[in-house]
Amino acid sequence: MEKIYVRGGNTLQGTIKIDGAKNSALPILAASLLTSGPNLFEDVPALEDVNTICQLLEQLGVEVSWLKPGTLRIDAAHINTCETPYELVRKMRASFLVMGPLLARNGRARVSLPGGCNIGTRPIDLHLKGFMALGAEVVMGHGYIEAMAPRLTGSRIYLDFPSVGATENIMMAATLAQGTTIIENAAAEPEIVDLANYLNAAGANVRGAGTSLIRITGVEALTGTNYTVIPDRIEAGTYIAAVAAAGGQVQLTNVVVDHLKPVIAKFEEVGVTILEQGDGLLVIGNKPLSATDVKTLPYPGFPTDMQAQITAVLTTARGISLVTETIFENRFMHVDELKRMNAKVKIDGRSAVIEGVPRLTGAQVNASDLRAGAALVIAGLAAEGVTEVGNIHHIDRGYHDLVGKLRALGADIWRE
Ligand code: EPZ
Repeated sequence: MEKIYVRGGNTLQGTIKIDGAKNSALPILAASLLTSGPNLFEDVPALEDVNTICQLLEQLGVEVSWLKPGTLRIDAAHINTCETPYELVRKMRASFLVMGPLLARNGRARVSLPGGCNIGTRPIDLHLKGFMALGAEVVMGHGYIEAMAPRLTGSRIYLDFPSVGATENIMMAATLAQGTTIIENAAAEPEIVDLANYLNAAGANVRGAGTSLIRITGVEALTGTNYTVIPDRIEAGTYIAAVAAAGGQVQLTNVVVDHLKPVIAKFEEVGVTILEQGDGLLVIGNKPLSATDVKTLPYPGFPTDMQAQITAVLTTARGISLVTETIFENRFMHVDELKRMNAKVKIDGRSAVIEGVPRLTGAQVNASDLRAGAALVIAGLAAEGVTEVGNIHHIDRGYHDLVGKLRALGADIWRE
């Protein structure tokens, strides 16, 4: 099994272009199932998860072809089944996002129940509540969920939690429903706005994305269109964390600064200088790090997908930091691995209490999910000696060439 090796101590210098957002590309590719003609997507990131959803689309009868790196042609004119296989949905929870589009386009969808994953149980009750409110009959059995409705009917749906996936699945299904759908307490992440913009470009009528109340007026059909995916705010945040840990000066290009406000604010509290420059950010890590408190919240709060990375940075920040994870019930697996590197962290319920130490020491550690994997690499950048990160398939799901990009910035890092 390949591992990533990091010898700590080098600072980072140079420029990084941020890729298209994984958590935008996945729902948008699922949404292409709603369209009856060719789509041309730009800035699609080259990630394992993108490959997985492309395999899933092809199994459904969709024509998928990469015209060049980052540019994907998708034609969903002929969908020849409404069933998705277990092995692909097990691999990636986001596969469940094809349920809403299939149900709306063909009146039926039979999708394998997504397995749990390391960061929590990941229920889908809010997705199903939405489909049933739109008039679908939903049955569960043999590890599959089946939803049927000759034609969906617009409805008012309140989400008990502003679930990103449920908001996306319901929004997609509602685009072809009869009448108007209102989603209350909707998720407001930038990726929701990106999906709504794509749907509207394909002929849908979605209003209010980015707020907690989204109104979708159903239309008869959606057509293929051209669309460019927004930059990945979590990839950008991950490189900010890398500069915080290793020190140095790095220019990030292709960044939507507005999407990173909570991340920028927090890392400035920790002592990183972050300046808006050109189409991105100049990140400078040249001061000792100071402890701070972090609480993950739905957007526009501090993103849960950046929690592992900032936790890694705070392990060597002077003072006591408190990191509270309010989104997932089990997203501190990276803490035990950081403790193997001499971090001083105590888990207390949904919070991690971190006592900063002068320096971590390199060790053998394992990634438990993609963000935890990135966090361990970040910890290795500043650690004394070599850190060996295993289970790096998690990292490849959400980061394209993390090792190559960090090497280009001067990190002493390799994979073998
Ligand atoms: C999306 O997952 C992201 N994935 C996750 O990113 C991200 O961490 C998460 O949103 C939160 O921002 C993609 O966009 C592909 P949720 P999703 O539904 O949609 C509960 C990464 O690292 N919930 O907002 O699955 C759930 O248990 C990944 O890129 C229900 O209770 O997240 C969790 O506690 C990890 N019932 C909370 O909501 C439901 O029906 C947030 O889940 C659905 C969710």
